[in-house]
Amino acid sequence: MSKLIFKCSNISKSFYQGNKTVEVLKNIDFTLEQSTSVSIVGPSGSGKTTFLNVLSGLDSPSAGKVFYKEKDINNLNDKERASIRNKEIGFVYQFHHLLPEFTALENVSLPMLISGLNMEEANEKSSRLLKKVNLENRMDHKPSELSGGERQRVAVARSLSNSPSCLIMDEPTGDLDAYNALKVSNTILELSDEFNISLIIATHDVSLSSRTKKIFNL
Ligand SMILES: Nc1ncnc2c1ncn2[C@@H]1O[C@H](COP(=O)(O)OP(=O)(O)OP(=O)(O)O)[C@@H](O)[C@H]1O
Ligand SMILES: [Mg+2]
Repeated sequence: MSKLIFKCSNISKSFYQGNKTVEVLKNIDFTLEQSTSVSIVGPSGSGKTTFLNVLSGLDSPSAGKVFYKEKDINNLNDKERASIRNKEIGFVYQFHHLLPEFTALENVSLPMLISGLNMEEANEKSSRLLKKVNLENRMDHKPSELSGGERQRVAVARSLSNSPSCLIMDEPTGDLDAYNALKVSNTILELSDEFNISLIIATHDVSLSSRTKKIFNL
């Protein structure tokens, strides 16, 4: 049997606003084997982003448990959780979160500097990754000097910087035209194959979800 990257049993997540309860996720079971890709699909508001945040430990479930490689992600100490997030799970957020005052190259290098690489090694690896997403001519641009699609590609390169075993992506082709959506999808799927990375992708993009091995409906 192949090894499980994620295992969730009976996950529920509610938000509380005053005396109102917003029940978003209800009794979700989910598993992901190593080197598998899965699309998380469902209408806007169905809880895709919430689910990704719970999976990665950014948010905790109201009930149920999330295991990352057999470790209960909500039972780790801060150091262990930070280390998993920095080194093992790459995250591409729905709204990029690039640091505005840094260049594309610096944004990609940052997670590697945090994990202990020196500047030269980090920049060398960043330029290789930026080449992979066809941004070799934009490495010294700040996010405000990049198009939306280029920013998304920087975020994809950054998510790969520490060679994660799993990539969690929230609408990675969200605000791209069809041509660039296809290019970014190709990049993600090719790189995950090349580096043996498991993929969890929340997406409305049918041309992307149809190319992952599994589809998980919320
Ligand atoms: N902090 C919060 N407090 C209260 N309700 C919240 C909170 N965060 C999310 N929600 C609600 O939970 C539901 C799910 O939100 P979520 O962002 O997970 O949806 P989504 O499936 O990612 O949608 P989209 O496709 O539009 O990105 C929404 O109805 C939202 O209003
Ligand atoms: Mg969302």
